[in-house]
Amino acid sequence: PFAKIQPLPPDKIFHMKALYEACEDKNKADLSIGEYKDGEGKSMVLKVVREVEIDISERDDLTKDYLPIAGDRKFCHYAEKLVFGSKCKALNENRICSVQSIGGTGGVRLAAELIKKCAPKKIIYIPDPTWINHKSIFTRCSLEIREYGYFKNGFDFLHLIKDLKAAEEGSFILLHACAHNPTGTDPMPDEWKQIFDILKEKNITPVFDSAYLGFATGNYQKDALAIREAVSRGIPCLVAQSFSKNLGLYSDRVGCLSVVCDSEKEAENVFSQLKAIIRPMYSNPPTHGSLIAGTIFSNTFLIRKWKSEMKEMSKRIKDMRQLLYRELHRKKTKRSWDQVIQQIGMFSYLDLEKEHIEKLRNEYHIFMSPSGRASISGVNYGNINYIVKSIHQVLEN
Ligand code: LMR
Repeated sequence: PFAKIQPLPPDKIFHMKALYEACEDKNKADLSIGEYKDGEGKSMVLKVVREVEIDISERDDLTKDYLPIAGDRKFCHYAEKLVFGSKCKALNENRICSVQSIGGTGGVRLAAELIKKCAPKKIIYIPDPTWINHKSIFTRCSLEIREYGYFKNGFDFLHLIKDLKAAEEGSFILLHACAHNPTGTDPMPDEWKQIFDILKEKNITPVFDSAYLGFATGNYQKDALAIREAVSRGIPCLVAQSFSKNLGLYSDRVGCLSVVCDSEKEAENVFSQLKAIIRPMYSNPPTHGSLIAGTIFSNTFLIRKWKSEMKEMSKRIKDMRQLLYRELHRKKTKRSWDQVIQQIGMFSYLDLEKEHIEKLRNEYHIFMSPSGRASISGVNYGNINYIVKSIHQVLEN
């Protein structure tokens, strides 16, 4: 039946990672996918995760039975507390329902499926630019995608506000909760307030993609500021948390989709719809990641350990931003590199053209997204000189 189908181009982000892995050059550097690497360029498992995994392996009360369709209830409960805060009014009024998701992508996909199935208006506004998978997810769910201005040589707040004011009432908007992917540029607290004023007035529902909480300030709760502001204003919203980056549980695919509703009854109804979406799609989620995450989130001692490791990761990235900026300046490399230290989170959106990015990849074996998004976590003391020298040379020629 597939004899006549044509091949499609590979995924831009995963393809770069695969090219990096296949490359045999000794100087190769991976600034492509959003995966944290340590100071030696190695992937790592958080110490707190290792500790919990060892404990889990010794428990004799665990089974391989199916999880419920909505996933691990305990994990979802603590994930809600984490992002909304235990004093959150909506949480205490049981107006929030949550399901475990297959990573952050799975959470955004469930959100899109819910909009497709249940929302009167199936229009979603996405930032220009945004994570490349957003468009694919929303297209697959037949939502009407409209873009709003976000970044043009820096955060374009005026454009954003202009587009929001012209946006359709009752639609949805995709917001990056923090550490915007790919630009590393977020609204300031006061700007968030102005955004929510418009959303509330126009009855536009935010869908927060929350994949990098903990990577902006180093503190999970502080990074949830925009979400908490929206919820405290009584704005219904959808929040897709991912624990891939901040717990380093990439391959365990663990996330949580929460829907903040107007009433307990509405939350119950949404919950039943989400279960009906999940059941024919993948039946129920896997258990390992949620068991680890739920164990950590329910224990203040383990939370403290996790938070200190998260701080370490985000600090190392900040240090590498400073180093990259200093070295590019020291070499008097063409262009301004201010954005490297102004931007936050895992990525920097470098001021490079397509030809430079391709040259860096093909001739210098430095891999980054074709958009110029560089994962700063791939920078370390061992490869900084090579990266800077390569960028410098590419811009000189
Ligand atoms: C990224 O943006 O690099 C990560 O979120 C990985 C992915 O799934 O694209």
